[in-house]
Amino acid sequence: MPQDRFPASEFDEWADSYDTDITSNEFPFTGYQRVIETVVEYAQAQPGMSVLDLGTGTGELALRFRELGCQVWATDFSAAMLAKARARLPEVVFIQADLRGAWPEELERRFDCIVSTYVFHHFELEEKVRLIGELAEKRRVPGGRIVIADISFEDDAHKQAVKQAAGENWDEELYWIVEDALPALRARNLRVEYTQVSDCAGVYVIT
Ligand SMILES: C[S@@+](CC[C@H](N)C(=O)[O-])C[C@H]1O[C@@H](n2cnc3c(N)ncnc32)[C@H](O)[C@@H]1O
Repeated sequence: MPQDRFPASEFDEWADSYDTDITSNEFPFTGYQRVIETVVEYAQAQPGMSVLDLGTGTGELALRFRELGCQVWATDFSAAMLAKARARLPEVVFIQADLRGAWPEELERRFDCIVSTYVFHHFELEEKVRLIGELAEKRRVPGGRIVIADISFEDDAHKQAVKQAAGENWDEELYWIVEDALPALRARNLRVEYTQVSDCAGVYVIT
């Protein structure tokens, strides 16, 4: 079997320092709070809305939707990340699941909005598009939004410039390249718009 490049154990090890790392304002978390706020804005959150947060980590994004009075479900495959999120947000329904695997029974319903931050860069472009396509078809209510923020560059030149500036902070992962991602998503019949939020992160809104 091929080795898993991004196993859950890696994120279990990261859980204790994660909340400190996101405050660094350095790659990959430059503008982290602005990115989270942009997702909440584009999600058009209303009290009572059902929201699914994929790859919730310690629950930073889920927390914002709870504060706005939404009903929140959240997934992650790391038990240690989920333990932190559960302690912080007892009223959120947390499900441990790998996004690359079978859809969990507990989430067999449709959501008003599906959100995710800093997760999809662990998947190849083909897998990103497949997952988003399935979310759009099977997991959102008609007219519901999917809002995905992640590490993302306009093109390869943009990525190389940020890589050079990041120096030893850089990890080579499956970052989004907008000029490849938008046509691939649109070829899957998805209506998508993109906004660059920081030098290394942006938000894809699928309506
Ligand atoms: C960089 S953290 C982002 C956490 C949170 N969304 C945030 O913005 O702070 C990435 C999260 O995605 C989760 N993750 C990565 N790959 C996953 C997968 N295949 N299935 C489920 N969760 C995954 C990790 O466990 C981790 O909690």
